[in-house]
Amino acid sequence: MEIKITKTSTKKQKPDQTELGFGNYYTDHMFIMNYDEGQGWHDPRIVPYAPFEIDPASMVLHYAQEIFEGLKAYRTAEGKIQLFRPEKNMARMNLSCDRLCIPKIDEEFAIKAVKTLVKIDEDWIPTEEGTSLYIRPYIFANDVHIGVHPAKHLIFAIILSPVGAYYPNGIEPVKIYVEQQYVRAVPGGTGFTKAGANYAISLKGQEEAERDGYVQTLWLDGVERKYVEEVGSMNVFFIVGDEVVTPALVGSILGGITRMSIIELLRSKGFTVNERRISIDELVEAHRDGKLKEAFGTGTAAVISPIGHLKYGDLDMTVNGGKIGEVSQMLYDTLTGIQWGRIPDTMGWIQTVE
Ligand code: COI
Repeated sequence: MEIKITKTSTKKQKPDQTELGFGNYYTDHMFIMNYDEGQGWHDPRIVPYAPFEIDPASMVLHYAQEIFEGLKAYRTAEGKIQLFRPEKNMARMNLSCDRLCIPKIDEEFAIKAVKTLVKIDEDWIPTEEGTSLYIRPYIFANDVHIGVHPAKHLIFAIILSPVGAYYPNGIEPVKIYVEQQYVRAVPGGTGFTKAGANYAISLKGQEEAERDGYVQTLWLDGVERKYVEEVGSMNVFFIVGDEVVTPALVGSILGGITRMSIIELLRSKGFTVNERRISIDELVEAHRDGKLKEAFGTGTAAVISPIGHLKYGDLDMTVNGGKIGEVSQMLYDTLTGIQWGRIPDTMGWIQTVE
């Protein structure tokens, strides 16, 4: 399939690269493709960035049949454009599609769409330290119908946003609130997908945590409220004694691509990494015994985010004196080094945009 390209005649003014934040600005173009029953995915096109016109009865507005992905394009010092494991995003996108009754996309084609769009808007890739171009592919139901059933008409779009750090203080350790009242996901649900609805569900807890001065919530499992799952915008890792542990992907946790890469990276460096269930009580005990050495989150947006404080009920656990740990720093340097082309990609993770 050929991608039809219509370029904008009025380019936007670019934002100050030192004040990007996350998700505040969008580039000049977007990718769109339609699905209609009987026709399949068709009419791929790149057009000037503009609002969608959708019917008030559009199904996504009522039943949230929507999934998305998140990846980044990085500009190297030599001027090359790099993508980090885009094939993993597209494979996960189809996993999400399957669970949400959304027709699957051609993964190779979706990567081609990303590369074509990034190339067209390449002058939007920021070059300041720690900045990148966030790529947001997403698919939503667009039937004009408010009966509840899988959509027969959908839109696949890709938008681009020049970004800085996800958290306002960059790589500064974050304060996380362990949520005990609300749950994010349950076995058999959609927790392992990137369904927009998962994020809507998490807002209440996040709002309350933010009110108390925490940046995000750490979700416990939805059944026993006992096992640590994920933070919502990132997966979590703990260093307990000599073991690096991250919650096993039990169905209610997102299989993060950064998570997968960090496990591979740590193992390649000889660390013992276990994917297993880890209870909040085990963490409390490890903290009490001085064995909880480091904690950090991983995500495309969050990269590596050290966790400096964990608040669980009345307990305020400071991790590594509230400072970034040695392993977290090493992982941040290695991962970002590969992504920005400062370190050779011996893992085979990078695809370039020509
Ligand atoms: C990402 O890391 O790409 C995410 O999707 C997290 C987010 C919801 C900003």
